[in-house]
Amino acid sequence: MNRPHPVLIDCDPGIDDAIALLMAFAMPDALELTGITTVAGNGPLAVTARNARRIRDFAGRHEVPVFAGCPRPLVAAPVFGERIHGADGLGGVGLSGTSGGLAAGHGVDAILEQAATRSDLTVIAVGPLTNLAVALVKRPDLAGRIARTVIMGGGIAQGNVTPAAEFNVFFDPEAARAVLDSGLRPTLVPLDATQRAPLSASRIEELAACGEGVAPEAGAMLRVYHGNVGRDRPGVFIHDAMAVAVPVWPDLFEIRPARLSVCTDAGPERGRTIADFASAEPNADVVVDLDPAAFLDRLCGELRAFRR
Ligand code: RIB
Ligand code: CA
Repeated sequence: MNRPHPVLIDCDPGIDDAIALLMAFAMPDALELTGITTVAGNGPLAVTARNARRIRDFAGRHEVPVFAGCPRPLVAAPVFGERIHGADGLGGVGLSGTSGGLAAGHGVDAILEQAATRSDLTVIAVGPLTNLAVALVKRPDLAGRIARTVIMGGGIAQGNVTPAAEFNVFFDPEAARAVLDSGLRPTLVPLDATQRAPLSASRIEELAACGEGVAPEAGAMLRVYHGNVGRDRPGVFIHDAMAVAVPVWPDLFEIRPARLSVCTDAGPERGRTIADFASAEPNADVVVDLDPAAFLDRLCGELRAFRR
């Protein structure tokens, strides 16, 4: 049996962030969650930091520290994603309140400290990249200290906030550019991958009704998520859970090197992610193909099997 990967998740819960956290908590044999850092994105930092604690406490994992990170993007004014995730950021379903507090210290420093003490750390970033960018500015050698970084972000064919830009990159494009230019060489999970795996309304209802593990609560959040994105859609994209799946179930994903760049100009192209798969100087590895059915089956299985 391999030792579980030590993993730090940087997030902005957000409903799909919550599913990603529950999935990580559900697999202690695969992932040792060393910490959760939070960032403004789907909601203000106060909301995302509170929600990360709500999910941690709901999962019964009070020992996992949650840190508050950056409250706003590097340059632009914040444009929060509350329309999709609801005013409380978790769809207003009745998850228990928080019993545990925030860990002392800033999320950026938590990333630096954990990377300094865990040589095999994987960072999974599923919100705007502000925390990671500030950490890299503070300690440029961080790029060589993190064993692996997996990022949910970017849309190569198209965006989801504007025709050009995906939300995490759109919220802080300067941060995304800084991360890509840092030498970190992340694995990128773009919309081109996550939008290949919609969870259908019928499977959401199966989760909500099954009474097993944390599936009912996950199903309740996803039902609200589907209502907010539009019930005419084929289902909901659990973007952030796919970023957790990449290091855990590598057999499901095809990854190719590319040189990525981000448009930081003002105007309609702001936040666009451009990929050159022919570059001789790749700065990232991009998920270009996957087995959507197997991903969704395994994800739903972990949510149903989770014993808190
Ligand atoms: O575009 C999808 C991403 O934006 C996900 O991380 C979702 O949580 C939102 O933050
Ligand atoms: Ca997110």
